[in-house]
Amino acid sequence: MAKANENYLRLPGNYLFSAIAQKVGAYQRSHPEAEVIRLGIGDVTQPLAPEIIRALHAAVDEMGAADTFRGYAPDLGYAFLREKIAEFDYRSRGCDISPDEIFVSDGAKCDCSNIQEIFSLDNRIAVCDPVYPVYVDSNVMAGRTGIYDEEAGAYRDVIYMPCTAENGFAPDLPQDRVPDLIYLCFPNNPTGAVMKKDRLQAWVDYANRHGSIILYDAAYEAYISEEGVPHSIYECEGARGCAIEFRSFSKTAGFTGLRLGFTVIPKDLEAGGVRLWPLWARRHGTKYNGAPYIVQRAGEAVYTEAGRSQIRGQIAAYMENARYIYEGLRDAGYEVSGGVNAPYIWLRTPGQMTSWDFFDYLLDKANVVGTPGSGFGPAGEHYFRLTAFGSKENTVRAIDRIRRM
Ligand code: MLT
Repeated sequence: MAKANENYLRLPGNYLFSAIAQKVGAYQRSHPEAEVIRLGIGDVTQPLAPEIIRALHAAVDEMGAADTFRGYAPDLGYAFLREKIAEFDYRSRGCDISPDEIFVSDGAKCDCSNIQEIFSLDNRIAVCDPVYPVYVDSNVMAGRTGIYDEEAGAYRDVIYMPCTAENGFAPDLPQDRVPDLIYLCFPNNPTGAVMKKDRLQAWVDYANRHGSIILYDAAYEAYISEEGVPHSIYECEGARGCAIEFRSFSKTAGFTGLRLGFTVIPKDLEAGGVRLWPLWARRHGTKYNGAPYIVQRAGEAVYTEAGRSQIRGQIAAYMENARYIYEGLRDAGYEVSGGVNAPYIWLRTPGQMTSWDFFDYLLDKANVVGTPGSGFGPAGEHYFRLTAFGSKENTVRAIDRIRRM
């Protein structure tokens, strides 16, 4: 008899953002007159930059001519893109990463959920709390997290590292139990917090001391505005010996609908004496046929002079929204953080309201959708996330409505 993977039964009923979409859909059906503004899921709203559209058109034309048509992409991605990534994202920042250590994919979400496959099931994972749900959920599906403790709102075998106002929303090094796999995301989703270089260096040193691997999600690095905040974990000494990094074009260049990302695995990185690069290459070759040619050409256009300048303009516009949200809420008396090096603003719910109560309250009273902090983990309770990815007009309307509430 066939048996289902019962690990899936340990998951919350819905992925967080699907649950929110369902709730908002139900609200809109019962309040058809409501003009709902969505600042919940971190999805971009600006159209693709002209330089990217130009590259897409050119690549589409190539696909229509026999002598320039392309079939399957190379396993790791096209060299024209990997070379640009190595040059602009790494070498220009003094990081020793070569093009053949870069695996191009259709996005960081897939990579950071699939990466656990190349590690043994008896590895213990550590995650920030609150955390982007994909890291935990993908490990639950694999059967690595133990049972869910309803009361604690947490999985028994996962090390949750609280990120609170007291530690600047960046985790302290675990002391009691040493994790094997450590998920870090900075600039952080959902809190918008960052780790300065010395603090990230302490994590790299810790991982190297204990033989742990850091799975570093740097999807929001393009939003860093302050000095001293690393854009890549490979800016830290010794990181090649303990870290894998994920990057995304989604938030950097508006590719949420186009899909493109990459993972960096240094060739000499080992776990328990086994090199990880060949394992991920084997997985990539077996389970994946590569991001589309036209999308990789669009990714290449991100690194042209025109592309970089247009994308800087888009990011500046989102960060202007972030400033408006941050200052608007702060002036209205909310306790707020984030929004300076990341497109997320993290606020404390007023009057000890739970995150979901505040979600309902905001939806009903202001017709604004955000994301309840508790959806990201137990330490997110009594917090709420707003994104800066809306249009300027909607962002201003949303914050003005919240201020009037
Ligand atoms: C978020 O809202 O946290 C992100 O958009 C989710 C994602 O990037 O998959």
